[in-house]
Amino acid sequence: MAKTFKYIILGGGVSAGYAAREFAKQGVKPGELAIISKEAVAPYERPALSKAYLFPESPARLPGFHVCVGSGGERLLPEWYNEKGIELILSTEIVKADLAAKSLISAGGETFSYQILIIATGSTVIRLTDFGVEGANAKNIFYLREVDDADKLYEAIKAKKNGKAVVVGGGYIGLELSAVLKLNNIDVTMVYPEPWCMPRLFTSGIAAFYEAYYAKKGVNIIKGTVAVGFTSNSDGEVKEVKLKDGRVLEADIVVVGVGGRPQTALFKGQVEEEKGGIKTDSFFKTNVSGVYAVGDVATFPLKLYGELRRVEHVDHSRKSAEQAVKAIKASEDGKTVEEYDYLPYFYSRSFDLSWQFYGDNVGDTVLFGDSNPESSKPKFGTYWIKDGKVVGAFLESGTPEENQAIAKVARVQPPAADADQLAEEGLSFASKI
Ligand code: FDA
Ligand code: NAD
Repeated sequence: MAKTFKYIILGGGVSAGYAAREFAKQGVKPGELAIISKEAVAPYERPALSKAYLFPESPARLPGFHVCVGSGGERLLPEWYNEKGIELILSTEIVKADLAAKSLISAGGETFSYQILIIATGSTVIRLTDFGVEGANAKNIFYLREVDDADKLYEAIKAKKNGKAVVVGGGYIGLELSAVLKLNNIDVTMVYPEPWCMPRLFTSGIAAFYEAYYAKKGVNIIKGTVAVGFTSNSDGEVKEVKLKDGRVLEADIVVVGVGGRPQTALFKGQVEEEKGGIKTDSFFKTNVSGVYAVGDVATFPLKLYGELRRVEHVDHSRKSAEQAVKAIKASEDGKTVEEYDYLPYFYSRSFDLSWQFYGDNVGDTVLFGDSNPESSKPKFGTYWIKDGKVVGAFLESGTPEENQAIAKVARVQPPAADADQLAEEGLSFASKI
């Protein structure tokens, strides 16, 4: 017998939690909504896993960071879902989806039917074993996506006190994990193929600051090469990392952050895809009737830039979930909601640093402010200029007001003064907009 719900959210991550809150706000009857998640816990703020979850002192733990505390909202504990009559179906992996029959089948053989499905399956990690890297199955090689992964890494950090870690990848995971491992007194070496860290977003000027700051904190950085193999000890635990350039690094722990991949495999051939994600309209509706996709898996119209994009960041996962639920509820009343008009917003924190970025990182760039890593209080930023307009802005160590000001610049896209003048004006340019 299939369990039947009016609405099913598939995935129990950030989007699912924010969607549930929006359903409750808009009105949902007990028994109408279910969240199905392979994780064993209610939706939580995933960004905590690479930050406070791994702190050496007073690490964050559930239930402390269930959604929606990450955006200053109410913390939704399992009891909240209970009170609202929202069914949390946890530790349940869906292994087959039949969008034509409107049904989902779990690994345990249960069938779930729905009228409306919200796909919120997020991303999974790319593994070194995917590229056949020799020895990549050794123990103590970690990836970080879910709370279970973070628990395993935390245990290893405790077990390998004062040990050595190699961090493979120079993106978000690489930078955040290197910092937190260092805080745990682990000797850290980062390895990445590019000429500078976080090339997806950072200019060489921005990266130069973080690389020097990390070096000052004692993080070793090896650029321009990749890990091609691992050796392990007689317990099967990783012992060495072999690099393509011939170097060999000792390691008690390896953390790999070489990118994410949207989890869309269940729906292949059943729903239209674009740019690696599930194609949606501005209401996160797919081309299949009654099926929506939100968060990391959605490729949606980014109105501000007139193109379809996929965004793998938490702010969008929250907002897209809310937009989809608003659209679903409005359509039931024969109404519509406004199109999603998203301003991309990314952020990261490590050591005592904190940056925010808004807009689009295309065109020419202007670096401003004090980006000397030796300064006692460095504060600097970058503007991106395209077709004579400022389209993106980055700021390290901004106050809330300053961050708001750069967000406004990215939204308003003011004409750019000449580059030298913009560099000179720096933040005061943003404050005037
Ligand atoms: P999310 O990954 O949150 O949830 C997907 C859920 O679906 C999971 O519970 C998963 O188990 C479940 N699922 C998948 N397939 C399933 C199946 N077949 N059956 C059942 N359940 C299934 N962003 C940012 O802007 N700032 C930051 O600081 C960070 N920090 C950060 C740290 C770490 C460690 C990670 C991994 C990610 C971040 N991010 C971030 C990115 C951000 O967390 C991410 O964009 C959102 O969590 C995406 O939300 P979703 O709901 O789309 O997926
Ligand atoms: P990423 O795309 O940010 O970075 C991957 C890095 O690994 C890149 O520098 C890439 O060039 C490098 N790389 C690729 N192949 C390599 C190889 N063989 N050896 C060494 N390096 C290699 O991805 P990530 O850091 O793994 O993050 C995964 C997901 O989690 C992403 O969706 C990301 O947005 C999300 N996340 C976001 C934040 C944040 O927004 N603050 C924090 C953590 C995670």
